Amino acid sequence: MVIRSVVQGWGAYLPEKILTNDDLAKVLDTSDEWISERTGIRQRHIAADGEMTSDIATRAAEQALDRAGIDGSEIDLIVLGTATPDETFPASATRVQMRIGAHGAWAFDVQAACSGFIYALAMADNFLRLGQAKTALVIGAETFSRILDWNDRATCVLFGDGAGAVVLKAEEGEGTSADRGILSTHLHSDGRQHDLLFADGGPSSNQVSGFVRMRGREVFRHAVTRLASVIDEAMAFNGLTIEDVDWLVPHQANKRILDSTVRKTGLAPEKMVVTVDRHANTSAASIPLALNEAASDGRIKKGDLILMEAMGAGFTWAAAALRW
Ligand code: ACO
Repeated sequence: MVIRSVVQGWGAYLPEKILTNDDLAKVLDTSDEWISERTGIRQRHIAADGEMTSDIATRAAEQALDRAGIDGSEIDLIVLGTATPDETFPASATRVQMRIGAHGAWAFDVQAACSGFIYALAMADNFLRLGQAKTALVIGAETFSRILDWNDRATCVLFGDGAGAVVLKAEEGEGTSADRGILSTHLHSDGRQHDLLFADGGPSSNQVSGFVRMRGREVFRHAVTRLASVIDEAMAFNGLTIEDVDWLVPHQANKRILDSTVRKTGLAPEKMVVTVDRHANTSAASIPLALNEAASDGRIKKGDLILMEAMGAGFTWAAAALRW
């Protein structure tokens, strides 16, 4: 017998305001054609003035709790993946904790940029498997619009705001890949690629949060290789092949990265959940947003094998295999 972290509920929230490529083309030297051809992005959601990461995280969390049929007071642990917290400290997760009434829980943020949700999921899974918590809330939430240089057309067109969450519950499994729950998580980072993607600010450097800076072509090249390799790693670890995957729920950076990764791994393209066209890159929120969509519209069914993967600044990259 082993302990598995089984998904009990899921939820998401997207800010009301939608910014289309055509809206951007009115204020920037860009076009819908350039953005959609190169990235697959057609629009993104943007948080309202005063709407913070903890606000949208709370909305997603409330929906996930509702679906799980449990109250905030039953949560032992909250892990929030975000690179855009409300404040330098405390962790925005503690604000979510207060709002949902999880007063007996402990809560913290995880910062792994676009890999933040899988990192957060791995933290929660390990606490559950060690018996230190029975029920966990894992959230990915970002207000990236706040750290974009809206004069830099090479970066500001790529990102959006949003939040997604899952509730995990510790259950007993047999220890095989047929078990429901998280089968494995695989985390990596390599600080040597720091300069290819970062925000040029922070409390210990220049005291403002800074803006996203990126060398897009190089990020692209690293992304496809690393994502394909971490997918292989997750499959091999579980004694599975790519044909066993029912749904790939990737971090939604850009459609060309998604397509190249799928080609490299040999997965049937129709098994990939794609939201980047409507959400753009929401960093740590993109996987739970995509999971929410595919689970809510009935594509993902109980017992399906889900593979998640992400890559982001650091570089960080990660994968998780999960039986729904
Ligand atoms: N509209 C119009 N023209 C633009 C825009 C824009 N929004 N942005 C850049 N350009 C111009 C450039 O100025 C350049 O013009 P020049 O030739 O006159 O100098 C030209 O387009 C080509 O620029 P490149 O940066 O070489 O364009 P590229 O084909 O590489 O596409 C892109 C850029 C889409 C960013 C691509 O490199 C990419 O997808 N990279 C991956 C980055 C990514 O997804 N990062 C997300 C975070 S990491 C992650 O989540 C995995």
